[in-house]
Amino acid sequence: MKTTYLGLELTSPVVVASSPYTASAYNVRECVHHGAGAVVLKSIFEEQILHHAAALERASQEPGMGDAGEYLERYLGEHYQAECLRLVADARATGVPVIASINCIADSDEWCGYAEAMERAGASAIELNIFLQPTDRHRTAQELEHGYAETVRRVVGTVGIPVSVKLPMRLTNVLSVADTLLGCGARGVVLYNRFFEPDIDIERLAFVPVPPFSTPAELRNVLRSTALCSAALPQLDIAVSTGVHDGAAAVKALLCGARVVQLCSAIHERGYEVIGEVDRFVDAWAERHGFASLNEFRGRMDFGNAGDDIYQRVQYMRYFPDGDRVL
Ligand SMILES: Cc1cc2nc3c(=O)[nH]c(=O)nc-3n(C[C@H](O)[C@H](O)[C@H](O)COP(=O)(O)O)c2cc1C
Repeated sequence: MKTTYLGLELTSPVVVASSPYTASAYNVRECVHHGAGAVVLKSIFEEQILHHAAALERASQEPGMGDAGEYLERYLGEHYQAECLRLVADARATGVPVIASINCIADSDEWCGYAEAMERAGASAIELNIFLQPTDRHRTAQELEHGYAETVRRVVGTVGIPVSVKLPMRLTNVLSVADTLLGCGARGVVLYNRFFEPDIDIERLAFVPVPPFSTPAELRNVLRSTALCSAALPQLDIAVSTGVHDGAAAVKALLCGARVVQLCSAIHERGYEVIGEVDRFVDAWAERHGFASLNEFRGRMDFGNAGDDIYQRVQYMRYFPDGDRVL
């Protein structure tokens, strides 16, 4: 089923999220082969580039490192960027719209150059993956969010292709942030990014790895903000990421106002075949309900259209008013 997202015509609302599943030309071809409407390439991490740059700086100052160390570090940094650009070009050759993803962390104009280079390499749009982990109690939410907005403003001012922003889940008022980003020229938002979360082994007092994949239940929180954002800011295109594991989840996201859904964990669990399964489910569901196009049902259950205050309700006070046991 066709959709438009960030002004791009997509043959399917099923998009593959920025992840290992879009990190190589081979993987992108798998996504396309199974019917993805677009792909968001694995992010280019500014952290990684800055790391190379810092190493280069150190190497040039260390006695004995000489030209060899400098050459190696410079080569690694440039090699990483060149690989990312080659992936954009190779992915573009598959014929689907390619959304390049940039992870920006530093307050600099450096990443504007990457965005420009990705546009030149053939990207149809840019997805900015921005999140500054608050570790300084003196930095207010407003300051951090101002930083996000400035990043978006600068990238939008640099490239001619549409820009969307992948937002973190823990924002006090996502509508206000999205509204500001719209004012800075963003065409869309991705709700949401899902971050690495550390866990602790209490016997060894050590950090332990946690599987990075989502569960289907995580979708519900995203549905609420999608429904609210779609009603408040219809000019912004919404992509739902986090918790879309099957076709029913995709339909729910579209009913809440999303233009596309992004898959990552579902591909980990069920392989690239899940892309076609989700796509076919949406088509069959729409046909069963008499909808000839996505526009006929997109947003039917958003905050403006659902005709219920359910999205505003957060407390469980209507349940168990007499303090009954839950089970
Ligand atoms: C192994 C792994 C790598 C990821 N890498 C990126 C990345 O480079 N950039 C990004 O924006 N999101 C990245 N993500 C987040 C996914 O794009 C997606 O937003 C998240 O997994 C939630 O979607 P899901 O429920 O479909 O998994 C990654 C996720 C996983 C599991």
